[in-house]
Amino acid sequence: MIVPVIMSGGAGTRLWPLSRELYPKQLLPLVNEATMLQETQLRLNGLQNLVEPLVVCNESHRFMVAEQLRQAGCPAGAIMLEPVGRNTAPAVAVAALQAQGAGDDPVLLVLPADHVIVDAESFRCAVVEGAKLAEAGKLVTFGIVPTKAETGYGYIRADRACPLSSVTCHLCKGGPLSSVTCHLEKTKDQGPMTNDPTAFAVAEFVEKPDAETAEHYLASGDYYWNSGMFMFRASRYLDELEKFAPEMLSCCREALEKAQRDLDFVRLDAEAFGACPKDSIDYAVMEKTADAAVIPLDAGWSDVGSWSALWEVGQADGAGNVMRGDVLTHDSSNCYLHSSGRMVAAVGLEDHVVVETADAVLVARRDRAQDVKAIVEQLKEQG
Ligand code: GDD
Ligand code: MG
Repeated sequence: MIVPVIMSGGAGTRLWPLSRELYPKQLLPLVNEATMLQETQLRLNGLQNLVEPLVVCNESHRFMVAEQLRQAGCPAGAIMLEPVGRNTAPAVAVAALQAQGAGDDPVLLVLPADHVIVDAESFRCAVVEGAKLAEAGKLVTFGIVPTKAETGYGYIRADRACPLSSVTCHLCKGGPLSSVTCHLEKTKDQGPMTNDPTAFAVAEFVEKPDAETAEHYLASGDYYWNSGMFMFRASRYLDELEKFAPEMLSCCREALEKAQRDLDFVRLDAEAFGACPKDSIDYAVMEKTADAAVIPLDAGWSDVGSWSALWEVGQADGAGNVMRGDVLTHDSSNCYLHSSGRMVAAVGLEDHVVVETADAVLVARRDRAQDVKAIVEQLKEQG
């Protein structure tokens, strides 16, 4: 059995002015008609052995999350409400504990609520592979071939000498493996493999390296980007957390034990969860575990973190403009133009982002779109 865990607690500040604290990017329809959260759920359609997802989000988003999932025709198994954000490691921990509640030890499919995946079928195939590795005790990541020295991602070095296959052993060309093992010794004996393996052991996981290190990783050709999606048994994640962040685990246990439950909502105890250390799953567990595996994923993945990323994944016109809403252009090219209400008209504009909302308009060079977060910081300082 696979339990999807949808993490929907981020703020998406680089997509200001559309993405706001009360209406973050995962609850917006940024690429298609459905919102990012709905798309996350919809792309699971067709997978077998999947139960209703656990969604972990901020308490203030509870009605929007419940309503959006209901509208998409796929209600949540439970919506776990965080009184405050403690980053992704605790969010996954409370979901793992909740998933184990019935005495089972299901495989969790941990998904960010705000990614684009163009080729949903390839994604689903990777999940099927991932489930087999996760059942055998691996902590599975999905690796994307990097295209630039992005410092906002995790980097994974696959141990190419240690191919893992959950289906058949490529090296022995024998039957199904009963458990996942490293075939390093056999690789040495038997020479090159005849099939591409579907997964590798992870030799190194480095979360958000500095620019120089990221350049080096990109040039080496040995690294994947971490897509931010994971699969593991609930018990494997909790065991690793016990090892690397025991205080976090005990706060999460207490927050769930004392949680108030009404309808689908699981309201985590504010005091216990508030006392939980903040950390991401990447730093807290994935950098440290010795049991990670990576499945290469080529499925048109994008973590639409900024307006320039939305331009990259959007449907462009002949001049390279991606437009949403009421937009007119003349002699303009390679722009991202978004109107939420009033008409936006661009004349002679190149490589820019214009985003109109009811109370704010953003105009930025497309290559500076990441710096929108500096405006958000200024706004926070102003209160
Ligand atoms: N429930 C909950 N609570 N969800 C959260 C919280 C939280 O406190 N913080 C973040 N999230 C959600 C976000 O909404 C997003 O869907 C997901 O968890 C990942 O968080 P991000 O904050 O967007 O992480 P990131 O982009 O900096 O880094 C992660 O994703 C990259 C790929 O997009 C890491 O896993 C990187 O290694 C990875 O490369
Ligand atoms: Mg992200």
